[in-house]
Amino acid sequence: MSINIKDEILKLKEERNAIILAHYYVNDELQEIADYVGDSYFLSKVGRESNADIIVFCGVKFMAESAKILSPNKRVFLPSEKALCGMALMAKKDSIEKIKEEHPKAKVVCYVNSSSEVKAVSDVCCTSSSALNIVKNIESDEIIFVPDRNLGSYVQEQLPYKKVILWDGCCHIHDRVTKEQVLAAKEKYGNDVKVLVHPECRKEVRDLADFIGSTGGMIKYVSSQKTDKFLVVTDIGILYKLKEENPNKKFFTLDMACPSMKIMTLEDVYVCLRDLKNEIFVDEEVQKEAYKALNNMHRLNK
Ligand code: 13P
Ligand code: SF4
Repeated sequence: MSINIKDEILKLKEERNAIILAHYYVNDELQEIADYVGDSYFLSKVGRESNADIIVFCGVKFMAESAKILSPNKRVFLPSEKALCGMALMAKKDSIEKIKEEHPKAKVVCYVNSSSEVKAVSDVCCTSSSALNIVKNIESDEIIFVPDRNLGSYVQEQLPYKKVILWDGCCHIHDRVTKEQVLAAKEKYGNDVKVLVHPECRKEVRDLADFIGSTGGMIKYVSSQKTDKFLVVTDIGILYKLKEENPNKKFFTLDMACPSMKIMTLEDVYVCLRDLKNEIFVDEEVQKEAYKALNNMHRLNK
């Protein structure tokens, strides 16, 4: 007897008082069944505010870990243990402690795309949508920004009165895009196409953008525009929501796809909810320290 996997997921979700959170980059079928779909900041907020006992996170590991750190009393699950963000593996706690010694007055701002251990030695976390507010509002003019050098350099450009010390990490999916690719796409689709760029891209690409921002920011921007043609310089998963909300607009991409975000399937979510498989655990001491950094992000994002 074959089962309807979506119905089974909905049933299990109800029985277990669980919610499903999905990032805009995951496969369409997961965005379709999720209770909430959003960017990293939004998802960290709804996870924390929810009354659910269980959070099933369709995204990558650092997102599920952040949900666990912010809600240590909830059980958090990542349906595929292979969903790892490459950038989150680039910064190491020991090296950050060393840079802190070299710059004793600086505060460490850590992009959420990082390990829990790195968050634990940071003063505050940020996401791409909140980075400017965080650096603007933090009580220090000197910032050590880890791990994304591209987002860090974007923050430095926007807030020239702050001194931003960059870490040499990046997202390979966004960092490998070149200005030639964007210019060739504009040539192909017409110069009136509006270019949306994620701040994880290099400066040469950001400089060609009509809009720079997080995935959630891009979705809001498109809805606010009368133009009907957009070149979307981020992961193609975002097309699901963009097309759903803007059926009459046209979207072009550079075929960027984060393999870790595409690894998870409906089957994984079903098995996860059925067997309570792939639970996220964070060491208690790490959780307490990392909580402060994530909580500071919510406090300073205004
Ligand atoms: P957003 O916060 O913009 O959703 O970005 C998350 C991410 O991993 C981008 O690569
Ligand atoms: Fe990490 Fe890049 Fe994938 Fe985002 S797109 S989850 S930064 S590897």
